[in-house]
Amino acid sequence: MKRILLRTTIVATAFVVFGFFSIPGTAQDINWDSVEGKEITLLYPGQGSWEWALTKSTHSGATKFRQGKTCSACHEGEEQDMGNLIVSGEKLEPQPIERKRGFIPVNVKVAHDGENFYMRLEWIEQGINGFPAMDPDYEIKITVMFDDGTVAEAKRAGCWGTCHDDATGMASSSGSELKKYLSKSRVKNTRTGGGTNYKPDAEIAALAASGTFLEYWQAKLNHDQAPVPVDGHILKSRDENAETAISVSSQDMHGKWVVVFSRPLKVPGDYRKAIVPGKTYSFGLAIHEAYAAKRFHHVSFEHTFVLDKGEAEFVAPRR
Ligand code: HEC
Repeated sequence: MKRILLRTTIVATAFVVFGFFSIPGTAQDINWDSVEGKEITLLYPGQGSWEWALTKSTHSGATKFRQGKTCSACHEGEEQDMGNLIVSGEKLEPQPIERKRGFIPVNVKVAHDGENFYMRLEWIEQGINGFPAMDPDYEIKITVMFDDGTVAEAKRAGCWGTCHDDATGMASSSGSELKKYLSKSRVKNTRTGGGTNYKPDAEIAALAASGTFLEYWQAKLNHDQAPVPVDGHILKSRDENAETAISVSSQDMHGKWVVVFSRPLKVPGDYRKAIVPGKTYSFGLAIHEAYAAKRFHHVSFEHTFVLDKGEAEFVAPRR
């Protein structure tokens, strides 16, 4: 893997003049060289849903997970092997895509400046490779999903807390379009998911008011074009916010990408989590590459960040 990385980087550097897009007053202000990065490995998850993971007969980690062990506690360091197994079609993937890779290493850095939080993500793309164009509009979408400790399943399972067996393209999909959701938005949840057994709107609104939702930020990317920032939330469904609060800058080196998300620490209005020093946030990452859509993406297990100091894998220094 190291060899491939090096080669691609050299090719990429030759094209460094291409595609640098940024919004004034955001990412450039951070001296990223002074911030330590860590690698997170995203794996191809196939149809491995929340319900699948909770079922003993399909997943031998189910019992321990139900008893309190997190996904990362068992699987950290195994992402490459797991992704390779699933992408091959041997497990959890009835529609394997030839030549698709099983995992994506992403270098992650976080920082803040007292007003904004920043997350910098750097990775090497696989290229289009003749893969099916499921989303013809954007070659790549990179997404951060996070929570402030309100949603228990996000803390213990990251994105898996929203990934249900009856969502579009998943094993129990009934053909009706279901995006990501939290089980708490449903009256009843079974092995196949919560379906359309929605709680009444007033109850959903109360959940939202108590912070029971996940916030997500997404950058939609094409080569040589400015990134398109989108944010939203997940509760009853995955819903885009009417107006985005995030800024995205991207550096496209035709092979290597650097994307920096930023968002004010506090954003007024619904469906925004306040980002405050000392609190531990859980987050997950996803990449849809080569025009992939829906479940045909790569995802991370759960990780954590904190501002200034505290208990987390990623500590965002003030810069
Ligand atoms: C107690 C340890 C443990 C925990 C906690 C755990 N797993 Fe697993 N997981 C396993 C073992 C062992 C396997 C391999 C055999 C199997 O599938 O039962 C596995 C297999 C998998 C696989 C299939 C790929 C493979 O390598 O076989 C996926 C996907 C997966 N786990 C996801 C998760 C997710 C998501 C969570 C959290 C919701 C989780 N696991 C929690 C132990 C665990």
